[in-house]
Amino acid sequence: MNDDVIICRCEDVTYDEIVRAVRDGLTTTEEIKRILRCGMGPCQGRTCSRIIARIIAQETGTPVAEIEQPRVRPPTRPVEIGVLARGRNGTEAGGDHED
Ligand code: FES
Repeated sequence: MNDDVIICRCEDVTYDEIVRAVRDGLTTTEEIKRILRCGMGPCQGRTCSRIIARIIAQETGTPVAEIEQPRVRPPTRPVEIGVLARGRNGTEAGGDHED
C-alpha cells in the first residue's frame, strides 16, 4: 500500500503514520486511536477501525480476529443550559408539573 494513502478520512491519518505508530509499540486500535485520533472523527471509526486492525495484524503477525476493536462512545455536543432549564414543554424547570 502507498505510504500516503489516507486510512482515517475523518482525521486525515495516513497508512504510514499508522505503521510507524505500530512499529513504535502501539499494538491496539485503542492506543492508536488515543495517539493519532483515528476513530474519533464524525464516523466514529466505522470507516477506519477495521482497516487499522488489519494494519496492526499485518505489522505484528497477530491474527486480525485477535485485534481488539476500540471502545465506541457516542459523540457529545454542548447543550445550552437554557435548553435543559426549559425542559420538554419549553417552560422553565418545574413549570411543566401539574398542581
Ligand atoms: S474514518 Fe476514521 S474516524 Fe472516520
